[in-house]
Amino acid sequence: MALPRLGSAHPASSMVHLYSRHALLGHKLALLRDRRTQPARFGQLLKEISLMLLSHATADLPVREVAVITPVGPTTQRVLAKRVGFAPILRAGAGMIPAAHELVPGAPIWYLGLYRDEETLQPVRYYDKLQGYPPVDIALILDPMLATGGSAVVAASRLKEKGVEKVVYVGLIAAPEGIALLTREHPDVEIHVAAMDERLNERGYIVPGLGDAGDRQNATGANDPTDDPFVPEEV
Ligand code: PRP
Ligand code: URA
Repeated sequence: MALPRLGSAHPASSMVHLYSRHALLGHKLALLRDRRTQPARFGQLLKEISLMLLSHATADLPVREVAVITPVGPTTQRVLAKRVGFAPILRAGAGMIPAAHELVPGAPIWYLGLYRDEETLQPVRYYDKLQGYPPVDIALILDPMLATGGSAVVAASRLKEKGVEKVVYVGLIAAPEGIALLTREHPDVEIHVAAMDERLNERGYIVPGLGDAGDRQNATGANDPTDDPFVPEEV
């Protein structure tokens, strides 16, 4: 039985789900975007938002019925029917792994090392050890940023090559360009993102976005705190 979909569908495709109207998720995303948010807090917020997104993205996974005996008596319940795995794209996707571990303990984690060439913005593969891994049926790509979409397209192709039946993309912020490319190249891939922003800038960064998601987690880029005394209220 399909559960009601909480994310609003993107007008161009029923495969794209946006959660920008979710109040708490939006609140946390605002804190994450803020340039003053430092790496440790950034990582914590990324985990919290990922937990919420993954909870929505897994709502319609295939289920099967099993017999369960509670302390009060027998019942029939639904459990996941397929093998689920996660494919974080390094580096930034690594920050979403703690949420995956928490929600589906023991699920395989298939690391994919990709970075964007700064000049061409094309994804470059540098780590891929999927060869000997046991199969999964459903793989959720984890990457906070869907910018040009190039990295996500390569990741989805690699997972399909590996025999994955169903690929789902879970991210935080997408550019319209990234959604367009991913839906064009992989129309069967469901996309779950917290927000779709305005556009890409001339360096391929999402505007307004949050900057470089890898750098902001790992304290490897400029993250100028300002002297502005206003700090948004936290939950
Ligand atoms: C970022 C991000 C995505 C990619 C998105 O990674 O984590 O993987 O860019 O861009 P695209 O949609 O245009 O491909 P980046 O290349 O900055 O590597 P990093 O995570 O190691 O910093
Ligand atoms: N990668 C990031 O980390 N941020 C962007 O805005 C685009 C790509």
